[in-house]
Amino acid sequence: MDPDRAQSLLQSCRLLPVIVLDDANDAGWLGDALVDHGLPIAEVTLRTPAALDAIERLAEQPGLLVAAGTVVRRAQVDQAAQAGASVVVSPGFDAEVVRRSLECGLLPIPGVATATEVQAARRAGAQLLKFFPAGPLGGPGMLQALAAPFPQARFVPTGGIGPVELPTYLRLPCVAAVGGSFMVPSAALRAGDQHAIGQRIRAAVAAVAAVASEPS
Ligand code: 3PG
Repeated sequence: MDPDRAQSLLQSCRLLPVIVLDDANDAGWLGDALVDHGLPIAEVTLRTPAALDAIERLAEQPGLLVAAGTVVRRAQVDQAAQAGASVVVSPGFDAEVVRRSLECGLLPIPGVATATEVQAARRAGAQLLKFFPAGPLGGPGMLQALAAPFPQARFVPTGGIGPVELPTYLRLPCVAAVGGSFMVPSAALRAGDQHAIGQRIRAAVAAVAAVASEPS
């Protein structure tokens, strides 16, 4: 998926589920669950040996936007591109990772926690910025203050966010999408609890719809 389409799909779904997959065999049903429940996006963190294989399998699923997460080295960008990912998410900002992502035609989402990092990441060409770790950094109030001098910047707050905090982040105009593992919890994934995961996905999608229908 080209980076513009990836960005617009992410901004229309407004959610980025962070997934830690231990077994690439789970990619099949999980991809189906995401698509069937109205959230055709998966960020698979490069923290497990199964991650690249899982990305490859998810990328075969038509209509599913696949992001590689926890990308901290240039070589991992190449691996992610080869596996079929369209998006590269990092916990922090690394100019090399952003540059290589853009060269490969992937959408980079570098992590930022300070105004200095926002400036640097935007100068490197990143349009979307992961505000990480959102909760411990001060939550929606901190993000709003950080975003104020950068009216063009759009953020993906991630880290320490759950269903309770989700609507507050979604109401911020600077928020493109909200990231987190709460949509596909690792424990439910390991247990193969497709029912619980389906419920989590549907609840997050419903929260986006509820916020969208609020009077402005
Ligand atoms: C990430 O990789 O983006 C974070 O580990 C996700 O944080 P969370 O588990 O608190 O949602």
